Amino acid sequence: MRLDVVTIFPEYLEPLNVSLVGKARVRGQLNVHVHDLRAWTYDRHNTVDDTPYGGGPGMVMKTDPWGDALDSVLADGYETGSHTPVLVVPTPSGRPFTQELAVELSERPWLIFTPARYEGIDRRVIDEYATRMPVYEVSIGDYVLAGGEAAVLVVTEAVARLLPGVLGNAESHRDDSFAPGAMANLLEGPVYTKPPEWRGRGIPDVLLSGHHGKIARWRRDQALMRTTLHRPDLIERCDPKAFDKKDREMLSILGWAPDPEGEPHSRFWRRPEGVEE
Ligand code: ADE
Repeated sequence: MRLDVVTIFPEYLEPLNVSLVGKARVRGQLNVHVHDLRAWTYDRHNTVDDTPYGGGPGMVMKTDPWGDALDSVLADGYETGSHTPVLVVPTPSGRPFTQELAVELSERPWLIFTPARYEGIDRRVIDEYATRMPVYEVSIGDYVLAGGEAAVLVVTEAVARLLPGVLGNAESHRDDSFAPGAMANLLEGPVYTKPPEWRGRGIPDVLLSGHHGKIARWRRDQALMRTTLHRPDLIERCDPKAFDKKDREMLSILGWAPDPEGEPHSRFWRRPEGVEE
């Protein structure tokens, strides 16, 4: 996979040399090019921004540096044999970046990222390239960063670990908390390793029992507990067919029940306080 990042802070992308993504680059699984947007400015101050039409606070990134940068990245990519690029535009007003989208992007051969600073990029740039290639405007969460570079790192890491051969164990992402198509997207529960005792704290007995069935059940119960606590929306979204008898028992203990209005296959919801089964 080829990745291009155009940014006014190329050094912000240094982490792409480290760990999983760094190793994937060394192995030739990822071909990363980071470009300084200011290389496509021609004035003394290397200006990349200007005041917004219509007024308002902040500055907007100008069309020309982006247009020239993207044209040159595209030309270079095509010349060196890359094809069917997609543009990934990190922005807090984009669609939420999810595991499903990570999988979709991991199937593309060439991603071009345009992390912006200030109030964003002049809209005409995105509209122009959208006539030539798919454009994904993505947000990594409901908060506003000072720029899109951190989002590029997030998206790249989520995508790179899905590329064939990048993670050691081909099975390892099948069980990811947010693997698309999973019957139930549950958060993973706690994990432990040696030593068996640390500062007076032991390991849950079941994990030492060697009883695979009981261990699997315990892990599932922990996942249900954690998910109801931190992400009740995921339980509500689950297809109820994803819950077996033991799941239902656990959910009931945690105060969840099928919606009585929606029988027979209704989703689970949190029982109102004081309402017994
Ligand atoms: N740029 C600023 N905030 C962002 C966010 N939440 N996601 C993606 N890009 C951003």
